[in-house]
Amino acid sequence: MTPTIGVFDSGFGGLTVLRALLDRLPHAGFAFLGDTARLPYGSKSRRTIAHYAVEGAQFLVREQGAESLVIACNTASALALDAIQAAVPVPVLGVIEPGAAAAKAASCTGDVLVIATDATVQSHAYAAACRGQGLRAIEKACPLLVPLVEEGWTDHSVTAEVIRIYLDELVGQAGAEGLHPDTLVLGCTHYPLLRPLIEQAVPSGIRVIDSAEAAAEAAFRLFDGETANPAPDLPPHRSVRFFATDSVEKFERLGSRFLERPVRNVELVDLEQFSN
Ligand code: DGL
Repeated sequence: MTPTIGVFDSGFGGLTVLRALLDRLPHAGFAFLGDTARLPYGSKSRRTIAHYAVEGAQFLVREQGAESLVIACNTASALALDAIQAAVPVPVLGVIEPGAAAAKAASCTGDVLVIATDATVQSHAYAAACRGQGLRAIEKACPLLVPLVEEGWTDHSVTAEVIRIYLDELVGQAGAEGLHPDTLVLGCTHYPLLRPLIEQAVPSGIRVIDSAEAAAEAAFRLFDGETANPAPDLPPHRSVRFFATDSVEKFERLGSRFLERPVRNVELVDLEQFSN
């Protein structure tokens, strides 16, 4: 029996993490839940984010039998990881620590830039995780980027201009504080879709990293054993089930862009019933 890994996000962005997980753990079963009815989390309070994320985690563990969870949402990882860990009896992995570890591996100067949602930046979870790795980090909220991605403007001149303005401000702030950043962390699951535009906009010498691949690598290490070393005759990608709390049609349409493969048979769920 293949263990099921539950993957939770506020919406579609976490599918970039699922994409990396499918590559790294091709024999695991996955249940992905996007809380699309309550997206965005990035503009909400810690209390609300924790309340929503715990309901999602409980659905994946109690109803879908997930034996481990990946919180594929930077905002929920930054503000609700403790609450989720306290609410479910399975290992829970967030994306912040793997992102900071990837920054550590990438940075030579020890100074990094982080872009993320408002809530993630206000929590300073990345700054703390980077400090834990011996890095100095400057964080910047980029609240316009999630709606631009949701609108499908991932290759649009307006988006390119917004990114340029945000990054100019961030690089200017880093300079004013005497930092010499050589790494930019994409601290939001939507941002990998903007990676080409972001890479065009960062000053040369700054490397862009995203926490999706780092989280998949951490999941591989944490959940190895049966999942990573299955029976040799097991076919890859045994099962991926998708759940959303709002329009399944929109999830299938937008989700395919994030996952880079078709997203089908999305099931609609009502998380209210999983409130304690
Ligand atoms: N998934 C969120 C994150 O990674 C972005 C979308 C939202 O604000 O809910 O921070």
